[in-house]
Amino acid sequence: MRTLLVAGNWKMNGSLALVEAFRQTFAAVALPARVEVALMVPFPYLNAAADAFRDTPLMVGAQTLSDRTGGAFTGEVSGGMLADVGARLVLVGHSERRSLFGEDDAAVLARVKAALAHDLTPVLCLGETLEQREAGRTEAVVLGQLAAVCDALDPDERSRLVLAYEPVWAIGTGRTASPEQAQSVHAAIRACLAEYSPTLAEGMQVLYGGSMKAANAGELLAQPDIDGGLVGGASLQVDDFLAICQSAG
Ligand code: G3H
Repeated sequence: MRTLLVAGNWKMNGSLALVEAFRQTFAAVALPARVEVALMVPFPYLNAAADAFRDTPLMVGAQTLSDRTGGAFTGEVSGGMLADVGARLVLVGHSERRSLFGEDDAAVLARVKAALAHDLTPVLCLGETLEQREAGRTEAVVLGQLAAVCDALDPDERSRLVLAYEPVWAIGTGRTASPEQAQSVHAAIRACLAEYSPTLAEGMQVLYGGSMKAANAGELLAQPDIDGGLVGGASLQVDDFLAICQSAG
């Protein structure tokens, strides 16, 4: 049985005080046995979060990384630097990176490879816009984004990914995909993975993201092909995020 992963994505939010609030809460809680938890914090808080969460179940992740190893790339942060300060995961291909920062499938693939090269777990985000959904192109878009990465990786590299299905129309809108809508796309993703290898499909964690909150997490996480959540807004309140973690597993 797959482990569930609930990952918070603070986006460009948060503070050292919020890091400390998460430390205090998560140092004292017992989570369901099948549940792993992570927080994707802004770069300046990575080091503090990695130190603060050492005696908690929280893993620390970053929200993006450079596709370069190092050098004259002002403002960029490499996978090696993320690993150096204690990050274990990194988001790649989040829809905000794709739409606001021009990251196309090639840029996403390069970042996945950079993450793998530094033993970071890439959390590869996939998702369709409302226009694409209404045009009946959801699976074509999502599976196309998946193939653009998986076709270029070897079997070992593929097995080190985590996937997150995030319908763009559900992100930050309060409009969550229904459990049936989400499960349908997750099942299509798993069927696509099975074409690479049944073992890959069986083992891959596929998270759901898009207005997940305590009130809807339970029924989303109960779906057979939903293996956790990627939580934006509700990860900024420690009690809300904890409630989501506790509704899993
Ligand atoms: O990375 C998280 C997703 O973009 C979901 O954000 O929970 O605020 O809709 P949200």
